[in-house]
Amino acid sequence: MDDVFELAAPEAQAIFLRDVLDGLSRAQRTLPCQYFYDAAGSDLFEQITELPEYYPTRTETAILRAHAEEIASALGQNVLMIEYGAGASTKTRILLDALEDMAGYVPIDVSEEFLLHTAQVLRTDYPALAVHPVVGDFMIRFGLPDDSQGQPVGFFPGSTIGNLSDSEIVQFMHAARDLLGQASQFIIGVDLSKDASILVPAYDDAAGVTAAFNLNLLARINRELGSDFDLSAFAHRAIWNDTASRIEMHLESLRPQTVTLGGRSITFEAGETIHTENSRKFTIDSLTPLFEQTGWTLNKTWLDEKHYFAVLLLSAI
Ligand code: TRP
Repeated sequence: MDDVFELAAPEAQAIFLRDVLDGLSRAQRTLPCQYFYDAAGSDLFEQITELPEYYPTRTETAILRAHAEEIASALGQNVLMIEYGAGASTKTRILLDALEDMAGYVPIDVSEEFLLHTAQVLRTDYPALAVHPVVGDFMIRFGLPDDSQGQPVGFFPGSTIGNLSDSEIVQFMHAARDLLGQASQFIIGVDLSKDASILVPAYDDAAGVTAAFNLNLLARINRELGSDFDLSAFAHRAIWNDTASRIEMHLESLRPQTVTLGGRSITFEAGETIHTENSRKFTIDSLTPLFEQTGWTLNKTWLDEKHYFAVLLLSAI
């Protein structure tokens, strides 16, 4: 697999330590969300997507299934699909099945093990498809693999766009416009505003899978950076912030405690939280100006019956 690009392991570990120390040194402590997805985290996330409370995956999947033919004909032939945060590439298969004469598929993901496994399975299931995996954080600019070719189409499902701030969306859409080029198109999944009684359980499920996913971030820091977080002394919290229209994920310290990390001591008060993720809920109107200012125009919107989720088709302008 000589077409896989990645950072060297020691360099990646030093960056991880720096990012963690930086986030934990702030007044409102934070941890960068791309670190959720090590192999264990990617597995837990796949379990989240199947939870009864987690409506986004099944809703988006149903929209893609219902309109696969229409989407495929809008995308045309010779498509080179570039997927940002590919995970298990489950939704991608709906498009791969509907598209004829594809030129290739470029899945990008931070979880190397998970990505390479997925790429292998796809090569078996789609022997005619050229799969060019790229290991990395899609917020960092990268180039398309040298041997990839075709008409670029971006694919950004899962409402991962909701995990970004406005300025990150602008940065991301700008970089995507540069990478994908003039005649490109982009398919984006967007989770829409809805009642908190539906949103909160989706991020705080009864079986505790989302809690385990959130806590895995601390477990990963222990594993890879040799720190001593006591996982039983932190609790998962999912809070609906109505003003900002977002679910906030936190890890709350259940008692006063000190954690050792990279030769430093970090002290937590009881009730103090680490903010680990935002999941924003949008109206389509709130996003269109961000698209327009980064070189994209909204061509088509597909919704489910309850208007829980939207799949958008953008074109480069
Ligand atoms: N993009 C997903 C979302 O916002 C990611 C996600 C789902 C997530 N559940 C989570 C991230 C729990 C952190 C914690 O819906």
